[in-house]
Amino acid sequence: MSRTILRGRVLTFADEPKSLDDATSYRYIEDGEVEIADGRIVGVGPFDGARDAATTIIDHRPNLILPGFIDPHIHFPQMQVIGSHAAALLEWLNTYTFAEEQKFGDEVHATRIASLFFDELIRHGTTTAAAYCSVHPQSVDAFFSEAARRDMLMIAGKVMMDRNAPQGLLDTPQSGYDETKAGIEKWHGKGRALYAITPRFAITSTPEQLEMAEALAREFPDCHIQTHLSENLAEIEFARELFPNLVDYTGIYERYHLLGPKTLLGHCIHLSHREVEIVSDTRSVAVFCPTSNMFIGSGLFDYERLHRRGARIAVATDVGGGTSYSMLRTLDEGYKVLQLRGQRLNPLRSFYHMTLGNARALSLEDNIGALVPGAAADVVVLNARATPQMALRMETVSTLAEELFLLQTCGDDRAVVETYVSGIARKSQLPPTFSGAR
Ligand code: GUN
Ligand code: ZN
Repeated sequence: MSRTILRGRVLTFADEPKSLDDATSYRYIEDGEVEIADGRIVGVGPFDGARDAATTIIDHRPNLILPGFIDPHIHFPQMQVIGSHAAALLEWLNTYTFAEEQKFGDEVHATRIASLFFDELIRHGTTTAAAYCSVHPQSVDAFFSEAARRDMLMIAGKVMMDRNAPQGLLDTPQSGYDETKAGIEKWHGKGRALYAITPRFAITSTPEQLEMAEALAREFPDCHIQTHLSENLAEIEFARELFPNLVDYTGIYERYHLLGPKTLLGHCIHLSHREVEIVSDTRSVAVFCPTSNMFIGSGLFDYERLHRRGARIAVATDVGGGTSYSMLRTLDEGYKVLQLRGQRLNPLRSFYHMTLGNARALSLEDNIGALVPGAAADVVVLNARATPQMALRMETVSTLAEELFLLQTCGDDRAVVETYVSGIARKSQLPPTFSGAR
């Protein structure tokens, strides 16, 4: 059997770092190797030079080798929405986003964008994502077909939305149910595809549709559920008007039994004390989307408050409300959001979130998020000297934590030397620049 060895400075997390000195939370090997066979990691340790002729050694020194990045909240049909100028969330959705998503009824368009979408993920070192498709089942087919072509572990689903959007983006409680069920039967568990039941948010789903989402969640308990919660004050007010008999916004998802350990709740910015408790007690995941929250002006995520209460937290790009596919850029902006809250995110914790933390949030830590034998060989290689200014700053860096902080603060896709998916080098196979002509 042919084997590949990646040689370099290996870094992988074992647990959430409690502080910058928490050396038990990670494993770092200065001259290390990750041994790969059949798309999986079969060994991790100090580099061992004695190998047979059938083994290919790829020397990435002095770069860092980490688990591939994981983005637990991103919108596939919003590639051409990034950088749309709006005052706040509802204007942004109505003016730009809903207009753009209507194009995904066209299979040719969906297929073209799917290819470009996975190019961007790979370019930025992201090997797994939880993605929203458009309301159209063909957008899900385009998404998972392209993911399968690249053997990428992806979670996705068609958004269910039956009100408060243009006609071309609406399903009905019954068609949303039928199309979601058909999508699950077609894709869930096929290769590396996992289907997420995706009621977009309470504003675009009637009570009847949320009942259908509840029925699907009961029928397919293995599937993730993804939605948005408490992103913007006007959104919260509107949601409360639509469900006047329920105690709060979180109470809507609670009422339809949509909360639980496989539920991903995008944003969770303006939660009451009760809502923090419910999110935490149901083991739902609060997904922090800093570039989006800053760009749309939604608010400052309260990391410490949720963390103190024991809530599960993930960190995501939320492209196209988010402004970058890069998890480095995302955690940089996350750091700044927390600075404005008087909270401090240490760089070890940031890199934990991009890898093992987000894998745990998706309940996929047995498969991805760490460089350990048995895990998928989804790997990113990072160069902290990727730009002249980073190289200059690296002259004064003396610790691993400082290097990680520099990568987070100044790094982007230029710092990603290679992205391996199931052991295959994918970034170096991409077209060198985006032409838009494919
Ligand atoms: N709330 C409902 N839909 C969306 C979306 O597409 N992006 C963001 N940021 N918030 C949402
Ligand atoms: Zn979103």
